[in-house]
Amino acid sequence: MRKMRTQRAVAILASVLLVGGVAACGNSDTGGGSKDDGKITMGFSQVGAESGWRTANTTSIKESAAAAGIELKFDDAQQKQENQIKAIRNYIQQKVDVIAFSPVVESGWDTVLKEAKDAGIPVILTDRSVDSADKTLYKTFLGSDFVKEGRLAGEWLVEQKKTASGPVNIVELQGNTGAAPANDRKKGFGEAIAVNPNLKIIASQPGDFTRAGGKQVMEQFLKANPKIDVLFAHNDDMGLGALEAITAAGKVPGKDITIITVDAVKDGMQALADGKFNFIAECSPLLGPQLMDLAKKVKAGEEVPARIETEETTFTQEQAKEALPTRKY
Ligand code: AHR
Repeated sequence: MRKMRTQRAVAILASVLLVGGVAACGNSDTGGGSKDDGKITMGFSQVGAESGWRTANTTSIKESAAAAGIELKFDDAQQKQENQIKAIRNYIQQKVDVIAFSPVVESGWDTVLKEAKDAGIPVILTDRSVDSADKTLYKTFLGSDFVKEGRLAGEWLVEQKKTASGPVNIVELQGNTGAAPANDRKKGFGEAIAVNPNLKIIASQPGDFTRAGGKQVMEQFLKANPKIDVLFAHNDDMGLGALEAITAAGKVPGKDITIITVDAVKDGMQALADGKFNFIAECSPLLGPQLMDLAKKVKAGEEVPARIETEETTFTQEQAKEALPTRKY
């Protein structure tokens, strides 16, 4: 009798374990390969930590993920495309719900984006875009219009120099080679200044969006060019690095050399308010809240716009003084 009861108990336990096991297996996949447990896991591949802008962007993404209840897997690619590709492949293997990344350069993403698409994992581009012809490889691109930023910088210069009777020599510090903001800001600025043949770019080189790069390349510019009237730096950090080189060369930044940058992070805005920079075209790094919103929509299968442009402005020295006390980053 006791033996029969024991056998029945073992059989019940076995069937409970079996049903539980089947249920657990059934939960693990939802067509796209991600877990259907109501939670969202996002794999994010960041460009690096090259600038004040990037630091503010990383903070925005981490804080917004926590506030939205999204589990964030974060990787810093140290400005290397191969590291980003590796991180994206890891996220595919881990079956995250959404992959988001800011591509260090524009080209060379089709293969890995196709792998994500084949695995059923939606991709969101944030901050920078890719030049893939196949737009179905990603769901949306959230970020700035970099051409516009360059154009606004150029248009301001055109206005300032409209009465110049002779050549105005401009040097340009570009972002890292192949990056969307480097390509686009160069394009927008070049197109804007083309209306005045006096405005000439006499030297243009990458400073990789870093202070060290900006300083080093500006030193070379100053050695090679006795007359520099204007510096256009593709971001604040390179402009801040260049300040050191300009001062060391015995020139007064903001006076002897007009300095135009992009970003408007606190240190850049301080330099502008102090009269060392002359104009900044804003590029907002606070993309986190919109990104998390998009991730939720994409995961729920909702349609999202193919392009979401960040709202931005520009700053003169006077405007920087007003904006600085409440500047968030
Ligand atoms: O992609 C945005 C750019 O990248 C910012 O302007 C620059 O500071 C950063 O490194």
